Amino acid sequence: MFDLVIKNTQIARPDGSRTDADLACLNGSIERIEGQITADATETIDAQGHLLLPGVIDPQVHFREPGATHKEDLGSGSRAAVRGGVTSFLEMPNCRPATVDQIQMDWKLARAARTCVANFGFFIGATKDNLAALNNVHPACGIKIFMGSSTGDLLVDDHESLDRIFSCGRRLIAVHAEDEERIKQRTTEIIQPSDDPLPYSLHSEVRDPETALIATCRAVELSEKYGRRLHILHLSTASEVDYLRTNKPAQVSCEVIPNHLFLNTTDYQRLGSRAQMNPPIRDPGNASLLWQGLHDGVIDIIATDHAPHTLEEKSKPYPDSPAGMPGVETSLPLMLTHMKAGKCTLAEIQTWMSDGPARIYGIPNKGRIEEGFDADLVLVDLDHSHEVRDEEVFSRAGWSPYSGLQLSGWPLYTMVGGRVVFDNGRIRPGVFGSALSFIDDDA
Ligand code: DOR
Repeated sequence: MFDLVIKNTQIARPDGSRTDADLACLNGSIERIEGQITADATETIDAQGHLLLPGVIDPQVHFREPGATHKEDLGSGSRAAVRGGVTSFLEMPNCRPATVDQIQMDWKLARAARTCVANFGFFIGATKDNLAALNNVHPACGIKIFMGSSTGDLLVDDHESLDRIFSCGRRLIAVHAEDEERIKQRTTEIIQPSDDPLPYSLHSEVRDPETALIATCRAVELSEKYGRRLHILHLSTASEVDYLRTNKPAQVSCEVIPNHLFLNTTDYQRLGSRAQMNPPIRDPGNASLLWQGLHDGVIDIIATDHAPHTLEEKSKPYPDSPAGMPGVETSLPLMLTHMKAGKCTLAEIQTWMSDGPARIYGIPNKGRIEEGFDADLVLVDLDHSHEVRDEEVFSRAGWSPYSGLQLSGWPLYTMVGGRVVFDNGRIRPGVFGSALSFIDDDA
């Protein structure tokens, strides 16, 4: 007797091949993959030939709880996640209060256990004076350093503090790589008082490509100096990819987010402040180099940097408008739509969005459809396309930068721990995710 059997499905294998088979789940795991499974199950789904993928692991989201739950909370963020086929997420620490000590970490874990429908893990945020916490708070998927300021007040921008953090401990360090000194200097130069509204596109000039490259190089140098595990978040420029192509030590990994693959500075005209984020969207031309970096393996994985703000907040004039775009529920359909158009393969999507994040963050038993792996799964419909619509967005933000775009590969069912949580447009009540564990966590 199984908990769940998915019949007549095409199973995505890690090598990108597809097997026509049935799949059975028991006690949260993938128990059996076979041509035909006839044993009884508590629930049976007829997949009608649709493609079954390993659930996406989104290794960079901002869910705003505690402190700004009018934008998102852990529950609403996780519901948006499973709508998009994301079964596990790693959340950033820039809440209010920030996740910078064991008290906040425990609070988040307890809150997530009660409200999250996807599996969850949290970063510990670096300040200039919480070194002991950075290495002793558990469980944490890694240490997050904002080298340049963004939403919230977490910032470590001086060399001495950065050196101290890199030199002490073994835990993975994930960096938001933008150079604060250059941001400040260019803000003063470029943002002049004016009676006319300033264009949101100034954001990409203030935080120019050099701003990102300086910080990325600095982080890699520190990682080399101490042999420290480093993950560079949301690479956005051709110059960073060029640099990493020849300067990427084995202990360094990096990611890109869909916004830097699919949007560019010409989109400010259409999207205004909706397109404002840190690091900013770039001139056309950068995206093709980011794609190249993904295909070559210079860039390891895809995250979304899901950063919800309300449209009311976004409508403030520049530079008071907040930076960030929601994205957790559109990343998989975006990538699958581009797979259909021949831009990438099924094997690459699994590597970038499921297996790769599990490997980089040391999350055991996730990211692949194989017997014995956790039954975090998503059944997608590649045959039909459906428009992204603000009014259908699950995120409390209530909008998407991709509204109006026709995408295929929307999830029909999302399974977390072998239980259906997203069922044809609806969240099923009573199903919750679990706290993720991390192999390298020193607990
Ligand atoms: O645009 C951004 N918004 N980039 C970040 O790194 C933070 C995020 C947020 O939390 O709003």
